[in-house]
Amino acid sequence: MAGMQPRSSEITDERTFMRRRGFIKAAGAIAAGAVASRALAADSAVATNTSAERRILVHEGEVLHSQATPPWLVPKLREAVPGNFSTNESATPYEYVSQYNNFYEFGTDKGDPVENARDFNSEPWTLEVTGEADRTGKFNLEDILKPHALEERIYRLRCVEAWSMVVPWIGFPLADLIRRFEPNSNAKFVRFETLFDPQQMPGQRSRFTAIDYPYVEGLRIDEAVNELAFVAIGLYGRSLPPQNGAPLRLVVPWKYGFKSIKSIARISFLRERPKTTWELSNSREYGFYANVNPEVDHPRWSQGSERRLPGSLFSRSRTETLMFNGYAPQVAHLYTGMNLKRNF
Ligand code: MTE
Repeated sequence: MAGMQPRSSEITDERTFMRRRGFIKAAGAIAAGAVASRALAADSAVATNTSAERRILVHEGEVLHSQATPPWLVPKLREAVPGNFSTNESATPYEYVSQYNNFYEFGTDKGDPVENARDFNSEPWTLEVTGEADRTGKFNLEDILKPHALEERIYRLRCVEAWSMVVPWIGFPLADLIRRFEPNSNAKFVRFETLFDPQQMPGQRSRFTAIDYPYVEGLRIDEAVNELAFVAIGLYGRSLPPQNGAPLRLVVPWKYGFKSIKSIARISFLRERPKTTWELSNSREYGFYANVNPEVDHPRWSQGSERRLPGSLFSRSRTETLMFNGYAPQVAHLYTGMNLKRNF
């Protein structure tokens, strides 16, 4: 149970990793001819749609996405508009966002999810809502999404392993979803659970798992309805690739990435604080709050700085880590009077 850690191979740097991925593609090119040469030419092409009222980041190269977008979702994605709170830092190229992943259900190496989630079937999808709310039950994803207008939010994503990305998500505020289930006054916490389906998720069948499944995350209710908490159903203008948590995931940009739970199948409103996956795995190293905090180091490494992906040949792109990942103006008030060293 070593838990999450930046392995030395990852620290070495992600360029080695991408070169290896590039090599895999190049090997494919020899076998597949024209198709693969198109794949190689598409390296990190990012286009911006510049029609007057919208500038959504769209990836126009080869799409590392094994699933077709369900027809009902296509027009919704097209109508997405730029939302608030987007950073103007450069977005991490799609090739990194979709190939350098943490999704233990599909393997623990960064390159495993894109390979092993290829056939993941997320259509149709049922979301179950339980607990302290007036509207509970099982809902079809299409019905869940129907009333929500989509927006793009370009957020920083800071992993507890001290690397970071900038991702153009498509989705809607978590607060808007929560409101529809009408949680009652006993609902103090929200618990989220990833699909449990060992047949589709090889990590869940493995006897050597670092964590227990299903993957569970949680937020205090006031955190969950904060304006930054986001439900993502897409990125780079398209539906979410399976490796990024299709068909819907959480994005909590002021917290370490492990709070941003993928492929959510159940949401529960609770009186008590839920036990969460990484906390259960190693409570000395991973807390419930997991707010990005450069002043509270992980027991095995510093959280004072981070490696922004992608690095270049000449620069390791180390940048200082910001309190609450730079989102203090929106969220610091949630933690007034709390000892953040103890409640890490
Ligand atoms: N959700 C589930 N179900 N399983 C996981 O292993 N990994 C988390 C989070 N959500 C994880 C998960 C971690 S550690 C990070 S950093 C982010 O997903 C990574 O999201 P990305 O792969 O889309 O960048």
